[in-house]
Formats: sequence, structure tokens, C-alpha cells
Amino acid sequence: MSSGKLRPDLSAVPQTMLWALYNRASEAGRDDGILHDPEAVRIYEALDYEYEKTFGPAEPTSAVKSAMFDAELREFLGHHPRGVIVNLGEGLETQRFRVAGDEELWLSVDLPEAIAIRERFIAPDDRHRHVASSALDRTWFDEVPVGRPLYITAQGLLMYLPEAQVRMLFQDFSERFGGAWFTFDTIPRWLSRKTVKRGWKKTAHYTTPKMPWGINRHEIATTLRSWVPTLEEVTELRWGRFPRGVGRWLFPLMFATPILNRYAPPVITRVRFRIGNSVARDETKL
Ligand SMILES: C[S@@+](CC[C@H](N)C(=O)[O-])C[C@H]1O[C@@H](n2cnc3c(N)ncnc32)[C@H](O)[C@@H]1O
Repeated sequence: MSSGKLRPDLSAVPQTMLWALYNRASEAGRDDGILHDPEAVRIYEALDYEYEKTFGPAEPTSAVKSAMFDAELREFLGHHPRGVIVNLGEGLETQRFRVAGDEELWLSVDLPEAIAIRERFIAPDDRHRHVASSALDRTWFDEVPVGRPLYITAQGLLMYLPEAQVRMLFQDFSERFGGAWFTFDTIPRWLSRKTVKRGWKKTAHYTTPKMPWGINRHEIATTLRSWVPTLEEVTELRWGRFPRGVGRWLFPLMFATPILNRYAPPVITRVRFRIGNSVARDETKL
């Protein structure tokens, strides 16, 4: 018998949006959850999907991470209420409901199959536009109005791209979006290697897609500055407190332990591109 729910037909990287939604909605559904997000819960419940069987028990990393990105965007909109937010690989992220302003323009850029499922639940409007294209396809650049402050985010995206593509994206942002902020998360090399070599078998029913771009914490600033020497700012954001689960002791331990704090943790970084910048390309570098 049909449940009346929507059965998502997603695979490879787009399927990972269900993993993030599951973790966020599970946190938001708790009385003591750190994220207030009724929209995430609504979408989570409307999908016919075996979340726990696929991804294992829910855990709060996605919620902690989203809360950190939310704080960044709230601050940005506090200073620039008419600012533009570009969320790359937004999937079923419901951030725009959590960080609602009155005047901002919000662009969600994701692959066509991802935007198709997003639009089953979240309708775009004049201020919240959907762009069904790869973040690597620069045509979305033209959707960004000139002359308004810009904040670009990529939550759970860059690790799925080859390093050379990430580098070129940084360089193109630098050329095109001087003055913009860009915040993104990265995974360490050991985890990237694991997904590429053996596959990260999360559960008996799910192996994550390959995550080809890994970078260790201590390499981030120098690598980014070698790609874009004129970066105005490279700031590591401090992880929020985990409400429960292994992350509660594992994250503080990873960051407090010498050696481990270089090689082990996932990192969230904010950069700012200098106004009036342009980068000389060296395609042979990687
Ligand atoms: C782990 S999910 C994260 C979704 C969302 N940011 C969140 O935190 O809930 C990865 C997302 O990246 C998207 N994605 C993968 N490759 C992409 C590409 N080349 N351009 C844009 N989005 C992409 C997937 O469709 C998916 O929505």
C-alpha cells in the first residue's frame, strides 16, 4: 500500500542530501535539539525513505555545522540586509527558513535532480531562486546581481569535487566576486583517501560516494593562499558545542591533541576575496 509519501530516487552525491537532512531533522525533532527547524522535520517526514537503515543512527554533526553557517549568514545579513547569499549544493537544506531576512536575495545552486526534489517541498520565489546547474558551470555567476554584498556558502560540497576543480572555482570567485565571503567545510586527507580507495562503508546498506578532495587542517591557509595570493581573509571557524553523541568528546579531543589536531578534524573555513582582484592562472600547478 502506498504511504502517500514521496520516494526519492537519488543516487551518488545527490543522495547525500538525504543523509544531511536526516541528521538535521532528527536534531530539530528533539525537545532538547540545538536546531529549530520545523521545515526540515516536515520534509524528512514527507519522504518515504529508510534513513536509519541506510545511514545508521542519527547524529548531530550536520546540525552543529548548519548552526555555524546560520550564525555566519545572520551576521552578514545584520550588516547587509540587501545582501545576496549563494548556497552551492543546497540540497534539502532549509536554511533560508532559519535565517530569514526581508530583503536578501538567496540563490540555491544544485544539480538538476537535486533541485527537482527540492522543489517538491520548497517553492522558489523572487527572493529565493533556484538554479539547476552544477556549481562548476559558471553560468550561475550571471544570476548574481552586481553591486550587492555577497556571501557564498558550500556546506558538504567541496569534498565531492576534484581538487583542481576546487582550485579553479576559488580563482574564478576571486576574479568575479571581489569583496565576497565564502564559507565551506573540508574533510581531512585520511577520510578522503578512505572513500577513494576502499569506500567508506557507513552501514551494511550504504557506502558513501568518493570524496576526492581532502585537506589537512594545517595546510588550509597556505594552500588557499597559494591558489589566490590576494585573499583578504582566511579564518577557521570554531566548531560549536556538540549536544550529545561521540562528537561531544571527540571534537574537543581532536582539537586539543597535538598532531591529531593537524591531521584528524574536519574544518570550516571562511575566506574573503579582495575587491578588484584578478588571478594569473597556472594550469600546470596541480
Ligand atoms: C552532502 S549534500 C549537502 C546538501 C546541503 N548542503 C546540506 O547541508 O544539507 C551534497 C549536495 O551537493 C550537491 N552537489 C553535488 N555535486 C554538485 C555540483 N557539481 N554542483 C552543485 N551541487 C552539487 C548534491 O546534489 C547535494 O545536494
